[in-house]
This record gives sequence, C-alpha cells and structure tokens, in this order.
Amino acid sequence: MPNMDSNRVEHLRQNYDSNPLTKENINKDPLQQFDLWMHEAIESDIIEPNAMTLCTVDPAGFPQGRIVLLKGYSKEGFRFFTNYNSHKGNDLSHNPRATLVFFWDKLQRQVRISGEVEKISQQDSSEYFKKRPIASQLGAIASPQSQEIKNRLVLQENLDAAKATYIDEEKPERPLHWGGYTIKPLRVEFWQGQKSRLHDRIIFEKKSGGWSKKRLAP
Ligand SMILES: Cc1cc2nc3c(=O)[nH]c(=O)nc-3n(C[C@H](O)[C@H](O)[C@H](O)COP(=O)(O)O)c2cc1C
Repeated sequence: MPNMDSNRVEHLRQNYDSNPLTKENINKDPLQQFDLWMHEAIESDIIEPNAMTLCTVDPAGFPQGRIVLLKGYSKEGFRFFTNYNSHKGNDLSHNPRATLVFFWDKLQRQVRISGEVEKISQQDSSEYFKKRPIASQLGAIASPQSQEIKNRLVLQENLDAAKATYIDEEKPERPLHWGGYTIKPLRVEFWQGQKSRLHDRIIFEKKSGGWSKKRLAP
C-alpha cells in the first residue's frame, strides 16, 4: 500500500529530556502532585489539558477507551460527566472500575489513575448541568449517546424537539440519564519523559491510612 504513512510512522521519534521526577521531589500526596501538573498543563497552552482517556471494561471483558473531559477533582476523586445509558455507562454498571490516562505532550508527561467509580449525587449532576451552555444542555437531551441512529437528521429532529419543548423555560432540565461519575483513586502513576527512553515513573498506591510510593522501570 504505497500511499499509506506506515513507513513514516515507524520513523517518528521524539527525544525526551526534562527535569527528573524522583521519590524525593514528588509531592507526598498524589492529589497535590496532580494539581501541580494540571496547573502547569493549563499554563502551557495545551489544547484541552483536561481531556483524558477513560478506560472501562465491557461486559464481554474487552477494555474500552475513549476521551472524556475531567470536570473536577478533589479528595473525593476525579469527576467527569456523560450519558449513563452510553456504552461507558453500561460498562460501569457491570464493573464500576476505571482508569484515566492524561498525556500532556508539551510537558512530556503522562498520568494514569485507576480506581473505583461511583455516580455523583443527582443534586451535584443537576448543579453542573445548570452551569453548562444551553447548546450543550440541548445536545445532551438530543443525543441518545452510543445508540445506533439512522442518520444525522435524527439528531437534528431531536434537537428541534428539545428546543420546542424548552422554548418557554429559562433552562432545560437535566435528563435523569445524564450525570457525573467520580473515580476514587487507588493507584496514581506519574510519568516524566527522560533521555534514552529511561523515563521516570513514580507510582502511588493507596494503603490503609495513606499512600505508598515506588519507582517503576520505564
Ligand atoms: C476532546 C473530547 C472530549 C470529550 N468529552 C466527553 C465527555 O466529557 N463526556 C462524554 O460523554 N463524551 C465525551 N467525548 C466523546 C467520547 O469520546 C465518546 O465518543 C462518547 O462518550 C461515547 O462513548 P461510549 O460509546 O464509549 O460510551 C469527548 C470526545 C473528545 C474527542
């Protein structure tokens, strides 16, 4: 297949060389370390620094990954919003565990977070829904996320119907199948690119009463 870029892909090579990450200079609290790196990612003009790959496992045991946006983090966990009836929602109802992966290319950094997942409260979901722009609210109402649709027109018709329903109201109501999840971290790994592919990896694991940390080979 002469026109494919397969050969070019093979020769792509990025050299990494950044400040070392050590068990001594990393924050002892992975949330604080994440906060620092998120701050630096936001400041470095990365497009959508809060975009992360959300990995779930489907009922047949296949890992499934897709990008979602991180919408908050605290001691409670890492929060994103979606349609509970979507494929990911179905995966999480069967197996409430997930992994999040961030890649911040400009900073030569990756963060991987694994943990148990819970739906956030209906009230918190509604509060966030209220803050979204109206186009996003209507989009959430119009899209039966992950279901097969005949064509794009179906979405336009759903959107028109949603607009007609809510025309007299200030703001649309949150559909009950749309809301947030929190990933409560059990493992958090920080990866920093270094020379000769000898990258730094420090992993935190939750232990009763705190976190342990260790260095892993790259
Ligand atoms: C940059 C980006 C951000 C996205 N953010 C979200 C999000 O926050 N929530 C969401 O449900 N889908 C989001 N999506 C769409 C998902 O990647 C995915 O297509 C959708 O959620 C359906 O996934 P599922 O069928 O595995 O459930 C985003 C996609 C991209 C590329």
